[in-house]
Amino acid sequence: MHHFEHRDGKLFAEEVSVTTLAEKYGTPLYIYSAATLRRHFEAFDSAFSGLDHLTCFSVKANSNLSLLKLLGEMGAGMDIVSGGELYRALKAGVSADKIVYSGVGKRASEIREALEAGILMFNVESVAELHKINEVAADMGKVAKISFRINPDVDPQTHPYISTGMQKNKFGLDIEHSLEAYELAAGLDNIDPVGMDCHIGSQLTSIDPFLEALDKLLAFHEKLKGMGIDIQYLDLGGGLGISYEAEEPPHPSEFGEALKKKLADTGLKIILEPGRVIAGNAGVMITEVVYTKSNPTKNFLIVDGAMNDLIRPSLYGSYHQIAEVEEHGRASETFDVVGPICESGDFLARDRELPEVEAGERLVVYSAGAYGFTMSSNYNSRPRACELIVDGDEVIVARKRETYEDLIKNEL
Ligand code: LLP
Repeated sequence: MHHFEHRDGKLFAEEVSVTTLAEKYGTPLYIYSAATLRRHFEAFDSAFSGLDHLTCFSVKANSNLSLLKLLGEMGAGMDIVSGGELYRALKAGVSADKIVYSGVGKRASEIREALEAGILMFNVESVAELHKINEVAADMGKVAKISFRINPDVDPQTHPYISTGMQKNKFGLDIEHSLEAYELAAGLDNIDPVGMDCHIGSQLTSIDPFLEALDKLLAFHEKLKGMGIDIQYLDLGGGLGISYEAEEPPHPSEFGEALKKKLADTGLKIILEPGRVIAGNAGVMITEVVYTKSNPTKNFLIVDGAMNDLIRPSLYGSYHQIAEVEEHGRASETFDVVGPICESGDFLARDRELPEVEAGERLVVYSAGAYGFTMSSNYNSRPRACELIVDGDEVIVARKRETYEDLIKNEL
């Protein structure tokens, strides 16, 4: 559910006309709905009510400061993967003891920054990283709280680029060697092993792989207890999918219920790292048709939003629903919706049935709130888009459109 709907054929973001926003702020334009974000966070977080838990929004999905602030004010913690994301989360006012830090390649400087801030824990992905954290912590006279990210070797049945919990993936420690890793960690002076972590992939549309991973982790927890290693946290990562086209992912409440059954008596505090399920359908990208053109095999809508603005279709072949911002009731036709970038892979949609729109008219690209702006770039020297948050009838400029000056400001 989201708050982008057509009223009398015209698209509204909550109470605000999208045409008015596009005229004022230009296109391509990202618009996020505050009510949708709140509703998604609330639906997800309350699915785990009754269980000691912390919902850490995955900053990589959407790292806009205003959006992080909004979620932080609702009680969200943050899941980060870089010093930059730590910086953003702290700037957004999120307290460090609600921040978990994942990622396979944390640098010493980033580890130092996180220890300085006093984050809740590091999700450690290799023994080499454990030693590095121990070394940095020792140098600072601190003890680092850690979890190991355990790779349970479960197939999440999602796109191969976003599947992370199989042995062939680069993530985490394989479950067979994880016990030794905990033993090692428990013996290090500047490390306190406080948790277990796993994240098996993204855009999962079934609960089964989560449950399969959870069973393996809970069995592992028993072994840890047997070894006298007493942990407090179980971080189950993110990954719950959303509906882009016709997918039918479980509702967060169903997801929560299924997990809660297995977690009730563990005595562990549960950490969750949802990204897409909170932000994905809370955002749209608005783009204007610059030209139309046809050849004997194709009709093209050439729009001002491109793969630098929203790379998901190009990178994963992802489907994003597209519609007119203002409906004209014209007949439909099959189009490729393409951007101005000099690559044949620059498309937002291929062979898509859409009404015959004209140059100067605008399209809405749905489900763009997660991994949309955060994956955008300046390729082809295109200034990155403006981001707005609409809250009722209020409009917040969450990020100004970049200028040409911004493009070159760090070049000497
Ligand atoms: N935790 C960790 C450790 C992760 O690596 C991720 C996502 C998440 C949480 C959040 O997952 P979510 O709840 O959003 O599925 N760019 C891709 C998605 C990459 C996901 C990477 N990791 C896309 O556009 O589909």
